[in-house]
Amino acid sequence: MIWTIILLVQAGLLYFVLTHRKRYTDPPLDKGVIPWLGHALEFGKDAFKFLMVLVILLQVRVAGRYVTVVLDPFSYNTIVNDKDCLDFSRFAVVLMDRIFQLQLPHDLLTKGKTIMKQHFLGLNLAGLNTSVGRHLQNLLKAELSVNQKDWKEEGLFSLCYSLLFKAGYLTLFEGEPNNNSADPSKIYKEYRKFDNLLTKLARGTLKPEEKKLAQCARQRLCELLALVGQGRGPAAGSWVHAYRRMLQDEGADRDMQNKAILMQLWASQGNAGPAAFWLLGFLLTNPDAMTAVKKELCGIAQTDAPETCLLNVKTPIFDSALEETLRLTAAPYITREVVREKTIHMAGGQEYLLRKGDRVCLFPLLSPQMDPEIHSEPQKFKYDRFLNEDGSPKTDFYKRGSRLKYYTMPWGAGANGCVGKQLAISTIRQFVYTVLTKCELELCDPNAQMPEVKTSGYGFGVLQPEGELYIRYKLNNRSRARSGRHVCTFQQTVYAFIIP
Ligand code: HEM
Repeated sequence: MIWTIILLVQAGLLYFVLTHRKRYTDPPLDKGVIPWLGHALEFGKDAFKFLMVLVILLQVRVAGRYVTVVLDPFSYNTIVNDKDCLDFSRFAVVLMDRIFQLQLPHDLLTKGKTIMKQHFLGLNLAGLNTSVGRHLQNLLKAELSVNQKDWKEEGLFSLCYSLLFKAGYLTLFEGEPNNNSADPSKIYKEYRKFDNLLTKLARGTLKPEEKKLAQCARQRLCELLALVGQGRGPAAGSWVHAYRRMLQDEGADRDMQNKAILMQLWASQGNAGPAAFWLLGFLLTNPDAMTAVKKELCGIAQTDAPETCLLNVKTPIFDSALEETLRLTAAPYITREVVREKTIHMAGGQEYLLRKGDRVCLFPLLSPQMDPEIHSEPQKFKYDRFLNEDGSPKTDFYKRGSRLKYYTMPWGAGANGCVGKQLAISTIRQFVYTVLTKCELELCDPNAQMPEVKTSGYGFGVLQPEGELYIRYKLNNRSRARSGRHVCTFQQTVYAFIIP
């Protein structure tokens, strides 16, 4: 009996030593009631609800890790720009392993990013944008028969995600199609199975049968992507070729290469489709916003701008509507691992120590994006929130009387901000332009409301809806009259670029 008591006391002491910490400058800590897990369950279920009670900063315990959540936007600059103390890639490596079973060393992440920057920015962006524009036009026409005068009914989320995914896949991953090319519809179907389980994969909360489903979809996707980036010919200079070549040169085996390409498929295609859905949905449920954006985009249609590349066209109303959409629906966690002790200075004068091995996390959806002091009536979609009265872009937003650098942060910021931002914006704009100028589009139920967000998606980029918003659409008279031919199969779609 006495030994049992001694052992219990020792175990208790050991637990205390391992878990207890308090120093003068440590952030206020809330460990949660469940040992080790801490607040992991609340984070996974609905992080917005859990974190909205915080004021500016709190340390919480999540699955054995201390995470300092910072919600004071005046402190964000020092966090997103400090590459020496706060590291992006360590947590990214953990997630890549959990989601894609991909083990890539840190330096390959950096090399991959350099290749992306070379191919997705500057002059290359115009070529990519033109390709996305052409694929979108052809895919849309493949959905709608030219002679079809009747409406086609569909879920808006499914329409936006599938069209943008396929156009993005054909542009970035297919290059020069050949007979061995995988059908993008097949890839999309498999991808959506995987995508639906992705947040659970990342949190390690899959049920056994879901685990099997995820493994199966991952395996199938890797098979479908096995030839991507391998061929010769004009496409050999493309981003995906350069990326695969780098992986080969660095000694990654075939399996790792395919998993890395799957990871890039998710990084590049996982957000634009959902963002386009929310934007079109908000426009359809806010007639004033739809009228203003449509007027601006139809104005371009009457100019000399090439229809499949709008890069050089100014669209402040559309830009504001997109920024407002992302303010409401982009919900990434910006997570960094503390690799060297760092003191952060809060705007109110407090100083807190971040300890080596802990994590620091920003949740911009909560602050600044939904902060009522920065954005009045933050739950409301106001398409002109980011416009000045003279129609120029509005960039001055204030909190406690001081101007903010970060008043919305859908793309992250600083050293690890989104590399694909320009490509994503131009792709979404091209898509909305194509749909609004080529089609008639309306809600099936004129009184329909926007669906709720899936709360399990907090932390992983643009949120997805819980349910659908049903629409009907058809080519407008002008597009039907100008379409000489109709493209209906995948092979035709990728070979024949028919622009009305
Ligand atoms: C609406 C579309 C998109 C949104 C909202 C979005 C959002 C983000 C955010 C928030 C981050 C920063 C993560 C962090 O700091 O922890 C990020 C990083 C990144 N994004 Fe995007 N993204 C989008 C589209 C794209 C596209 C189209 C690509 C590529 C073609 C892309 C490639 C990347 C890459 C490679 C990084 C990591 C940067 C690094 O390693 O430093 N994203 N994105």
